[in-house]
Amino acid sequence: MCGIVGFNGHQQAAPILLQGLTKLEYRGYDSAGLCVRDGSEPAVIIKAKGRLSVLKEKTNDGLSVHGDCGIGHTRWATHGEPSETNAHPHCSDDGNVIGVHNGIIENYQELKEKLLRNGYTFYSETDTEIAIKLIDYYYKKYLHTPVDAINHALVRIRGSYALELMFKDYPGEIYVARKDSPMILGIANGESYIASDVPAILKYTRTVYYIGNQQLARVGKGEITFYNLDGDEIEIEPKTVEWDAAAAEKGGYEHFMMKEIHEQPKAVQDTLHSVEHDGVIDLSGIGITDEQIQKLRQIYIVACGSAYHVGVAAQYVLEDLAGIPVRVELASEFRYRHLPFSENASEDSLVIIISQSGETADSLAALRKAHEKGLPTLGVVNVVGSSIAREADHVFYTLAGPEIAVATTKAYSAQLVALYTIAIQFGKVRGLISDEDYTKYIADLEALPAKIEKVLEDESRIQWFAAKQSNAHDVFFIGRGIDYAISLEGSLKLKEISYVHSEAYAAGELKHGTISLIEDGTLVISVLTQPRLIEKTTSNMVEVRSRGAYLMGLTTYGNYDVEDLADFTTYVPATDPHFAASVAVIPLQLLAYYFAVSRGLDVDKPRNLAKSVTVE
Ligand code: G6P
Repeated sequence: MCGIVGFNGHQQAAPILLQGLTKLEYRGYDSAGLCVRDGSEPAVIIKAKGRLSVLKEKTNDGLSVHGDCGIGHTRWATHGEPSETNAHPHCSDDGNVIGVHNGIIENYQELKEKLLRNGYTFYSETDTEIAIKLIDYYYKKYLHTPVDAINHALVRIRGSYALELMFKDYPGEIYVARKDSPMILGIANGESYIASDVPAILKYTRTVYYIGNQQLARVGKGEITFYNLDGDEIEIEPKTVEWDAAAAEKGGYEHFMMKEIHEQPKAVQDTLHSVEHDGVIDLSGIGITDEQIQKLRQIYIVACGSAYHVGVAAQYVLEDLAGIPVRVELASEFRYRHLPFSENASEDSLVIIISQSGETADSLAALRKAHEKGLPTLGVVNVVGSSIAREADHVFYTLAGPEIAVATTKAYSAQLVALYTIAIQFGKVRGLISDEDYTKYIADLEALPAKIEKVLEDESRIQWFAAKQSNAHDVFFIGRGIDYAISLEGSLKLKEISYVHSEAYAAGELKHGTISLIEDGTLVISVLTQPRLIEKTTSNMVEVRSRGAYLMGLTTYGNYDVEDLADFTTYVPATDPHFAASVAVIPLQLLAYYFAVSRGLDVDKPRNLAKSVTVE
């Protein structure tokens, strides 16, 4: 959601800001804007509704706006409709303070009333305008210095923010502040960069500062000074980003999603090899001790979207291999429910938060709730230095590299393999897995990348089927056990990028309602990778077929009976059934991709969706 960029250096800022915003397009947005200042000349603000291309046209790709210091923003509307007026940057009436903001100001109404009482008026419907004017108010009331004014405002603001600000009296400087919304700062060759996310600045620098919660910074040219809420200077060490600039480019593919689908063998292999060497899994880097593992009586897996679906699949694996009861919760539910935790929860429970971005607002809130209740937490996170990675007690980094397409593929696959290694190791430490099975499971994981590769080789078959079916109105995915978890992800992929209504059902639930929706020609995709459940799901296929369904079967090589029943069957290599999601999800990702392409849709940036959901 909302993307933020900033530049302060010795080149023209606008083209750099626009390039950075382009790299952040994947976050989701509906309007964009920038503000550039040339020395002590008045700042110029330009905004546009719609795609970034409109802003680029308005500014002649940034060439018509002069100045070497500036801020930019892509807005994903929360308060107020998408419009040029509501787009950022926002500005105090006399141009004293100009700023952009990502996040939500929860007490904006109360702050607005305070400002109205003090003579302020408002031109937009945004909470950001209120924040900017509040800073202006404190600037004028007290010391006339940015750090003091920002700090006074931050003490009054409730909610989340990544703020970039420019002050009329302080040319050549940008001020930033952050709480619960992502923001990083970078430096290279006497110039400074600001961004919501690494891909926006990878081209320029890999030396970044992760500014902490409720911290501020004054960003000069190639020098950054950090402050705490008291206005005292603080030290933040720079970190080196491991991702290379090419990782955030399309690399010859038409869409990031397709590139990322093809990067899955590597994402799985890299993530596996980060904890497994010579047939032995070593989780010591994550800091969970064998004693802790032995004591576990309950695991909670908490996540949103596809990461939640990883949790659903992992639940079966963990319960089976490690013998620990698992509850999988949507983060948006977990954070508000009153779950009775056991008396010894701080010792016998573990909360696993799965998140690609590490910034999803609900997942972060769930993590904090777990901490409030004294429960230990493990973050399975892709983005280094993200909020969840910083706040979790233990972190397992997935090594998927930057994921740009809104619809996740490689991060999902990397998360799955991370959870498998946790399940195997927990099972081993708890004495439930023999040495022989341990060796076999690890060999199965080692074989996954090649099996995924093999499914990818069969891409054209799925492409053909998708082109034929892409006019479908409703699609149902059915499966049992892990096949149900795979169905959930397949269905989400399809609906989010192709806008075709789809639902996933535990196959046994069909008769409790959904079957009434099956008509002549309704596409039903049946997932059958779990040997002990295949017969059961096959019966459900027979039921829907006799009501007119058009059937696609997704199963493993060897289950050739499925062909007798299904109108179209696709096969994936067999693996240990616990790990089947890793292989079987691939044709469903491809199916969703080719549905969207056949329908002429913007695969990487589906409407209304954001890559990183940083507000509730
Ligand atoms: C958004 C993305 C999904 C992702 C979900 C959770 O909805 O489009 O791909 O699964 O957020 O994001 P996270 O970063 O926490 O994994």
